[in-house]
Amino acid sequence: MPIQVKPTGAALGAEIIGADLTQPLDDATFAQIHAAFYQYEVLYFRGRELSDEDHIRFSARFGELRKLKITKQLHVEHPEIFVISNIKKNGEHIGSYDAGIFWHTDGAYLANPHAVSALRALEVPEQNGRVLGDTNFASTSAAYDALPQSMKKRLDGLMAVQSIMHRLKQTVESGIKKDYNEAVKADPEATHPLVRVHPVNGRKCLYVTEGYTSRILGIPEDESRDLIKELTAQCVKPEFTYLHNWRKHDLVMWDDCSTQHKATFDYPETLPRLMHRTTVVAA
Ligand code: SIN
Repeated sequence: MPIQVKPTGAALGAEIIGADLTQPLDDATFAQIHAAFYQYEVLYFRGRELSDEDHIRFSARFGELRKLKITKQLHVEHPEIFVISNIKKNGEHIGSYDAGIFWHTDGAYLANPHAVSALRALEVPEQNGRVLGDTNFASTSAAYDALPQSMKKRLDGLMAVQSIMHRLKQTVESGIKKDYNEAVKADPEATHPLVRVHPVNGRKCLYVTEGYTSRILGIPEDESRDLIKELTAQCVKPEFTYLHNWRKHDLVMWDDCSTQHKATFDYPETLPRLMHRTTVVAA
């Protein structure tokens, strides 16, 4: 099936037109999508309603799917699906309601972090004809490429601690959540290179986020704090970002090595937003 790859024109992102994800893809079509993904870092597919089975089948072409430990927020019938939503049932959120509140890269706090995430919009909050709750994506490979040579040299070989407790502490401090989810404490942090070399396309990318990066090792604490601030600001400069304005049924997938993202919380609780996300484990 011929497909069309339409770049967003931003530093990252492309729309894939003409791929029917309700059916198993033939190898040639999947190869085109795979190549586009590792070129554009974020892909989106729109215009066709997908089932959970379609979503799982398509994302599993990229690798083994991870079942997250946060069992309360997993889909009951499909534990490969993580539910993100502000909808409440019997007084409790049916999914994660604070996902994406800070700039972050999914699973960075794990020793074997996520490789690919695919998020599908089942319900979108709409007001006055505009869908709210955009997701902003940043290309950390473009952000790295634009650094001066002296900074690239300084970062060479540095390691950083990525911690879910760091994110949860910020969430509690900002009053968004009262408590931590016990399940995440099982894998609280991991150490990764500050500059990762992408396992598929070999591009260098900054692996540092507002949400998860708590400490750069081997340098004084104040220097670590300042460098995290400088690099996270570099990553999210407008010239390295693409803002996705959702439509119902969109499937958006992103590279968890070379991008980071942040959701926009600009919609009231009365407007439901429901997303399903699958996660591919790094090979
Ligand atoms: C996420 O951070 O995985 C979710 C982003 C969103 O809900 O827009």
